[in-house]
Amino acid sequence: MAKFFITTAIPYVNDAPHIGHAYEAVNTDAVARWHRLLGDDVFFLTGTDEHGLKVQRSAEAVGLTPKEQVDRNSERFRETAKLLDISNDDFIRTTEERHHGAVKQFLQTIYDRGDIEIQRYEGPYCVSCEAYYTDDELVAGPSGAEGQQQLCPVHGRPVEFFSEDNYFFKLSKYEKPLLDWLTDNPDAVQPDTRRNEAIGLIKQGLRDISITRTSIDWGVPVPWDEKHVFYVWYDALVNYATAIGYGTDPDRFNAFWPTANHVIGKDIIRFHCVYWPAMLLAAGLDPPRHVWVHGFLLVGGEKMSKTALNQIAPADLVEDFGVDALRYHLLRDVPFGPDGDFSYERVVDRYNSDLANNLGNLLSRVATVVGSKLDGVGPAPRADSPLAGVAADCYEATAAAWNRVAPSEALEATWRLIRETNAYLESNEPWKAEAGSPEVAAVLGDALEVLRIVAILAVPAVPTTSNEIWRRLGLPGGADEQRLPDAAAWGQYPGGLAVEKGPPLFPRRVDR
Ligand code: MSP
Repeated sequence: MAKFFITTAIPYVNDAPHIGHAYEAVNTDAVARWHRLLGDDVFFLTGTDEHGLKVQRSAEAVGLTPKEQVDRNSERFRETAKLLDISNDDFIRTTEERHHGAVKQFLQTIYDRGDIEIQRYEGPYCVSCEAYYTDDELVAGPSGAEGQQQLCPVHGRPVEFFSEDNYFFKLSKYEKPLLDWLTDNPDAVQPDTRRNEAIGLIKQGLRDISITRTSIDWGVPVPWDEKHVFYVWYDALVNYATAIGYGTDPDRFNAFWPTANHVIGKDIIRFHCVYWPAMLLAAGLDPPRHVWVHGFLLVGGEKMSKTALNQIAPADLVEDFGVDALRYHLLRDVPFGPDGDFSYERVVDRYNSDLANNLGNLLSRVATVVGSKLDGVGPAPRADSPLAGVAADCYEATAAAWNRVAPSEALEATWRLIRETNAYLESNEPWKAEAGSPEVAAVLGDALEVLRIVAILAVPAVPTTSNEIWRRLGLPGGADEQRLPDAAAWGQYPGGLAVEKGPPLFPRRVDR
């Protein structure tokens, strides 16, 4: 069985989960579910990033110890993942003992191989990014009594000046190996625009980077010099290795690492497409197989932030629309790659058009006519159905799109099959035909077969709905237990099963 390791970035716990985090989690979950359908041995990892100055200060601000703060906030992310039906196999917290052990071993290996050395570091630091900047990377802010302020290019906040003895990772050595990696593996970082960004960062020239701090103690201690702790990013990135057994279970690590796929947002390309692959090379390991970079989900064209008070909690939308409808919207309406704007109206429109009118309506009219014309017993499809070719085409397009991490296109292809089947029913009008006639049985057998295939193909987006359709068709097991591509082949609805109508899957919304 092919292994497939997939990860989200691990969010900082100084914040509450918002729909930007939900967007990343749902996209990653959908790809993981797709690979389970393909029969891969999937290991899906998410978790929380709990060290660093940002977390330490946010704890102080609310009068908690860092430990109390991270315990409380990590739990919020775990609960949100459950609420969104995220099928992660593990939830890693960087404050866990297993992670401290792996980080120490990983960085000790790089140290022993000669790529870490001590130097004095002075420079501007942005606490929000948890990153040092060079002077020429800063942007000019307003002038005040102390002269012109220098601001972080990402957050637009004033930077602080830090000076300390730090251990440095010899990143400069890895310019060529990183460019070779990206040239030899053109799909390692996708989409191409993000790959070009990564290449641009490397071609600008790489300086050695400071990876430890002495001014704080909320972090993983440096094993060879305990006055230092690792700077948060260099501990956090190692989470991907920790969870699959780095340093504790070499067989497992060696089986999963070559199949590693990271899903991240565009703001952390530098860390995942430059620093992390270089650290891996320095530790004698291969860079990740893929880094898939998505854009930002914006609210009113703006980045969500605590200060702008524009964060939308996933829980509110789940309560309002249901988890599958929210998942479907995030995957279908915000294509993977560019930024997208969140709008309540778009969620309602997509809900009504694709879920209520197309999918919900197809199931409901098929089940109704099977009830009224065929005594509730579903017939088998015809081998030469006009829908067989459409189903095969839609399957190919769906599979190709999931494989290139284009969920929006994958769902468009699956929903094309639903639309074509609704049109097929409208032109054949089985509800007008004579009860029990071969014509009714033929048309409804075809439509039931489409519903069987659609239930499987929709698993990555709407897993609960898919299993419910499967159950109402009278099929044994679950839609998510089927294996592709075999299960998508035409003609497998057995016929003779009791079909249940049930309440509408997605009652139409009248708030638009
Ligand atoms: N802790 C680091 C990641 C360490 S991974 C070893 C971090 N945390 S974060 O909370 O700021 O972001 C976590 C993920 O959520 C990132 O991939 C980030 O790009 C993503 N998003 C945060 N806000 C987002 C949106 N508004 N829209 C989409 N994704 C966004 O970075």
